[in-house]
Amino acid sequence: MLTIAVSKGRIYEDALPLLAEAGIVPTDDPKTCRKLILATTRPDVQLVIIRATDVPTFVEYGAADLGIAGKDVLIEHGAESLYEPLDLNIACCRLMTAAHKDAPKLSGRIRVATKYVKIAQSYFASQGIQAEIIKLYGSMELAPLVGLADCIVDLVDTGNTLRANDLEPRELIMNISSRLVVNKAAMKMKHEAISALLTQFEKTLANR
Ligand code: ATP
Ligand code: PRP
Repeated sequence: MLTIAVSKGRIYEDALPLLAEAGIVPTDDPKTCRKLILATTRPDVQLVIIRATDVPTFVEYGAADLGIAGKDVLIEHGAESLYEPLDLNIACCRLMTAAHKDAPKLSGRIRVATKYVKIAQSYFASQGIQAEIIKLYGSMELAPLVGLADCIVDLVDTGNTLRANDLEPRELIMNISSRLVVNKAAMKMKHEAISALLTQFEKTLANR
């Protein structure tokens, strides 16, 4: 049995066509079903539905053989213990700094709200900027509006969320897409099944 960890929402939606090309179609829909383990049309493959930030943990410990996770989540988690063989080019966005549209260029010691504490720390250190990082779990865009922080580090896609909150993107930290990750032991023990899946994904991606 191969177990693939996927998060609900945009990664799941974007991953479905890719999985379908490999003959993997879940027999339940996580939007309407409360099951956390989904059987698929392939009797040797099941999906586990978990929070996006938990995907590296499940794969690292071998609770899932494979997983699909954003590069943002992988870097923040520290994914050295995982193989990352494929960029799936889905759930693409940018990790950026953003501040109020009327705020001057940030200087001196600044306060930054983000859920990406490690990435933010290393980014501002690399820029020689002294930053106090405030960890949030969501709605980062609110922080500069209520005086909690001078700027944020968050994901930007269309820019609609920033605009709706009178913020503007400032510096690009990195481009983000979702990656296929593989447990290292599973790569050895289930080599045949996993490499067949990788080859299928590669073929689908090459045809896009
Ligand atoms: P968690 O549930 O663990 O808090 P989350 O709510 O951030 O995670 P999603 O919003 O589904 O989960 O995001 C999952 C991944 O999709 C992110 O890690 C990122 O790689 C990508 N992503 C997030 N927001 C966007 C966006 N607006 N456009 C495109 N991709 C995005
Ligand atoms: C993500 C991210 C931004 C927004 C950016 O939030 O945290 O708030 O998308 O996308 P945009 O540039 O297209 O507006 P998400 O939609 O995942 O909401 P959540 O973090 O509250 O789950």
